[in-house]
Amino acid sequence: MRTRLVVANWKMNGSFALLDEMLSILEPLMDKTASEVVLCPPDVLLSSMKSAVEGTQIAVGAQNVHSEVSGAFTGETSAGLLQECGVQWCIVGHSERRNLFAETDEFIRSKTETLLKHGIRPILCIGESLEQREAGKHEEVVIAQLGKGLAGLAVDDQNRCVVAYEPIWAIGTGKTATPEEANSMHKIIRKELESLASPEVAEKMQILYGGSVNAENAETLLSQSEIDGALVGGASLKTAAFPQIVVAGS
Ligand code: 13P
Repeated sequence: MRTRLVVANWKMNGSFALLDEMLSILEPLMDKTASEVVLCPPDVLLSSMKSAVEGTQIAVGAQNVHSEVSGAFTGETSAGLLQECGVQWCIVGHSERRNLFAETDEFIRSKTETLLKHGIRPILCIGESLEQREAGKHEEVVIAQLGKGLAGLAVDDQNRCVVAYEPIWAIGTGKTATPEEANSMHKIIRKELESLASPEVAEKMQILYGGSVNAENAETLLSQSEIDGALVGGASLKTAAFPQIVVAGS
């Protein structure tokens, strides 16, 4: 049985005040939900978040990391520093980083390895563009991203990874994949994991859905057999919405 995982990706949004407010609403809900909850705020909030969530069930996540452990990489953050900030999870391969910052599968793969060496669990994002879906290439694209992200990792490392399927056309557009569309893509991903890794890894790995998840659609999406959680953008900044997603289906 896979534990449900709900991850907030604040992107370049939020504030110290919003973090305090969100945590004060989430904390009392944690014993009412079966979900694991991870909040990924911008890096400057991580250290405050580490102190604020101490003793709670809420985990600290980051949105990005550099693959190198240190050096002349102005503006970047190392996995070692993330670890010092109590970071347990980190998003890699988000489509915004792939497209706006030209991150390649190879770079994403090396970030994943660096995170694993620092005891931080990677959340590997994969997903097709609208153009690729309309051309019927979505399965091929997603399978290629998955393979380049995870192939060749040791089994213990694969077991520490989570995959997030985020169709680009559903991100920030209000257009969600239907629960059936999302579930069928998750099935394809899990099937691929069987050959890429092993049936055991495939069975255990949490596959999250992301793309316009909100308080209204969370329950239906999360009730699909192959959807093990959600990676939430816009709605994770709303104190009226994110807590509802956290308790959806509990
Ligand atoms: P939205 O929930 O705003 O569509 O964003 C999804 C996302 O990109 C999460 O990583």
